[in-house]
Amino acid sequence: MSTPAPPKKPLTILVAATEAAPLAKEGGLGDVAGSLPVALSALGCQCALVLPAYREILGKTPFTVAAREVPIWMGPDRLLVDILETSLAPGVPAYLVRHDPSFLRDGKYGDAYGPYGDNDQRFLLFSKAVAALPRHVPFVPDVILANDWQTGLVMALLDNGALPGTAGVFCIHNMGYLGLVPPEHVPLIGLPDRYLDWRGLEFWGRMSLMKAGIAFADKLVTVSPTYAREIRESWQGAGLEGLVQYRSDRLHGIVNGVDLALWNPATDPNLVANYSLEDRTGKTACKADLLERMGLSGEFMDQPVLGMVSRLVSQKGLDIFLVAAQGLMDLGLGIVVLGTGDQVYVEALRNLAQENPGRFAAKIAFDPALSRKIFAGADLFCVPSLYEPCGLTQLYAMAYGTLPLVRATGGLADTVSDPRHGHSPGTGFSFTPYWAGDLTWAASRAVDAWRDPPTWNAMTAQAMKSAQTFTWDRAARQYLKVFHQALAIRRGGA
Ligand code: ADP
Ligand code: GLC
Repeated sequence: MSTPAPPKKPLTILVAATEAAPLAKEGGLGDVAGSLPVALSALGCQCALVLPAYREILGKTPFTVAAREVPIWMGPDRLLVDILETSLAPGVPAYLVRHDPSFLRDGKYGDAYGPYGDNDQRFLLFSKAVAALPRHVPFVPDVILANDWQTGLVMALLDNGALPGTAGVFCIHNMGYLGLVPPEHVPLIGLPDRYLDWRGLEFWGRMSLMKAGIAFADKLVTVSPTYAREIRESWQGAGLEGLVQYRSDRLHGIVNGVDLALWNPATDPNLVANYSLEDRTGKTACKADLLERMGLSGEFMDQPVLGMVSRLVSQKGLDIFLVAAQGLMDLGLGIVVLGTGDQVYVEALRNLAQENPGRFAAKIAFDPALSRKIFAGADLFCVPSLYEPCGLTQLYAMAYGTLPLVRATGGLADTVSDPRHGHSPGTGFSFTPYWAGDLTWAASRAVDAWRDPPTWNAMTAQAMKSAQTFTWDRAARQYLKVFHQALAIRRGGA
């Protein structure tokens, strides 16, 4: 009689990130790190999250102390951190690395004056605490998934034997931020010299923590297949394209998901009226509500409205958007923008709003409730990014039946299909040259489509259906494959 195979031990995954919704969110990384652990645990993994203990989290979330006074060496200094425990979702613990001088601040990465000057030290400390954590709490990961430069060091620490048997997977969300450590802080890194030359962290005389992640992970992920190709090229690779090419057999592009439990116009409590793919009548009330809130003229009930929700940084295509703004308004579009970021863009947007009352509205704030009113109430949603590793807002817009108008780069190219490229009916509009005239040209095609209700209805229905296919379950299954491959590499020495 054959004995039944022993039950497969669930994979244990520790996700290390510096933001995760709903505990603490600043951008798309927060959405990803909030949803992926939950999707992985639904697939049978034991998943936990680890975050810095920001003031924002401690102020609103109950927690227990899982470990006290864990020593972390930063150069000659022995710092003590506490490990707190809270929960991301039922069955998904979230550990918080508490070191008040580093993390008990109002911002996560910076304040009104810009990024904090000691970010390299704060996140070196966090990364060392992540690698130390399994020796102090009852959670020993098979795999650590680290995200972006802030946790890049974790991959080098694993390579250096910090947790024998634990594989490292590094996810690149944005190559535009290299996590540079100035020469005077290099002694804080605490790795043997062989990690600090050009084969390791060294990057033009400084150390890059993004490079640490890319060089030493067992497997690499980035957040779309197109971006996985783009970062092998010089202008998107930010100087690390050679290393990315060298490691490209380890690199996978996995498009982020839309958490339909959180981003669903049928259930979103922020909307004045709910609606669904089957019955979209409520969307008209959402548009009226948006116009009123943002002070756009009621005339725009009969004209298309273009929305934008974005960090106001050059990555997001603000330079061409600002040049195109007048041309967009000339097409008859009303425009609403919500964002925070660089002062130069803030001022330009404020000027446009002042010069075009009732036609152009800008709110400079981080306002999740208003962002949802824009996803629902606008007709078109603009993401003209210079580069975009994945992009989530175009997917949220699609889920809310609002057609994206995007530059075909990175994840925008992988998620939006333009009828111009033979997609029928298509889910949005795209252009390729980074040029205001091309943005306006794509917008003019969108306005034509809006004026033709059968075309528009078919496209919005298709966009809503398409958004439903970008589930976290789909992405989590792809991550799981990568985790198994990483473990085979780490444990098999492949
Ligand atoms: P990135 O991470 O590069 O900023 P993504 O499109 O991946 O871009 O994710 C941005 C996330 O942040 C989305 O959830 C978006 O709705 C949100 N967001 C950006 N700016 C604001 C804002 N001013 N108010 C509310 N939410 C915002
Ligand atoms: C980064 C990218 C964005 C991506 C997000 C989550 O912030 O800029 O394109 O969607 O990470 O992966």
